[in-house]
Amino acid sequence: MGLDLQNLKHVAIIMDGNGRWAGLRSHSRVWGHIRGSDIVSSIVEEADEFGLKALTLYAFSTENWSRPLTEVKVLFKLLKKFLNRERERILKNKIKFKVIGDVSELPLKTKQLIKDLERDTRNMEGLELTFCFGYGARKEIIDGVNQFIKQNPGKEITENDLNDHLYIPKMRDVDLLIRTGGDQRISNFLLWQAAYAELYFTPTKWPEFTRLEFREILEDFGNRERRFGQVRASQSLMESIEQAQKNKSQLRN
Ligand code: IPE
Ligand code: IPE
Ligand code: MG
Repeated sequence: MGLDLQNLKHVAIIMDGNGRWAGLRSHSRVWGHIRGSDIVSSIVEEADEFGLKALTLYAFSTENWSRPLTEVKVLFKLLKKFLNRERERILKNKIKFKVIGDVSELPLKTKQLIKDLERDTRNMEGLELTFCFGYGARKEIIDGVNQFIKQNPGKEITENDLNDHLYIPKMRDVDLLIRTGGDQRISNFLLWQAAYAELYFTPTKWPEFTRLEFREILEDFGNRERRFGQVRASQSLMESIEQAQKNKSQLRN
C-alpha cells in the first residue's frame, strides 16, 4: 500500500555535490557553491507550492569548518547574499525562517540579518524553512541534554524533555531525507529528528538539482510503505508507540 502524500510534512535536504559539480567543469569549488546557492530559492518555492509544512536545508556542517578558510568565507558570503535577496519573498510568502547551528563566528551583519528575519517571521504560518548552518546533530543533542541538566539538576531526561531542548523545540520528525551528490550517508544531520525518515539518495549534484526532480522525489514518497516497527503500513510513529504500550499492558494483565 502506498502512502498518502498528505503524510509528507517535513522534508530535509543535504545539499551536496557543489565542489564535484564545479570540478567536473574545470571550475573552482567556489563556483559550485555560487551556482548551488542560486537554486535554493526554486526548491523552497516548490516545497511551498507542494504544500509541505517544513523544509530543512543543510548548508554548512560543524565538520565543514575544516575546509580551506577561503571556501568557508565564500559560504558565509553566500548565506548573507541569500538573506538579502530572499528577505522580501520570504515575508511575502509567510515563510517562517530559522537558522539552527552555531553561527557565533559569522560576521556581525549576517548575524543581524538572521536575527531580523527570524524575528519578523516568527509568527508566520506558512512553510517552516530552517537553514542548518554551523550545524551538527551530535552537538545539537549534547547541547540539549546539557541545557536540560542545568535547568533540572538530578532529574532523568526523557524523550519529550530532549524534544523540548533541541535547537527548535518539538521540531516535527523528518518524513523524507534527501541527499544530492551521490553519497549515501547522513553526515551528522538531524540524527534525532530523522530517526524514522524515509531516505532518498540521488546522484544529481546540487547545482543541477531541479524543481522537477524534487517534485518527482516528493511524489515517490507516495510509493513508500512506512511501518514504524509494525508488520503492516502505519500512519505514524505515535500510532506504533501506542500499540506497543497496549501490547505491554495486555501482557502484564
Ligand atoms: C555541499 O557541496 C556544500 C557544502 C558542504 C557546504 P560540497 O562542497 O560538499 O561538494 P562536494 O561534495 O565536494 O562535491
Ligand atoms: C554534508 O556534506 C554537509 C552539507 C551538505 C552542508 P559534506 O560534503 O560536508 O559531507 P561529507 O563530508 O562528504 O560526509
Ligand atoms: Mg560534499
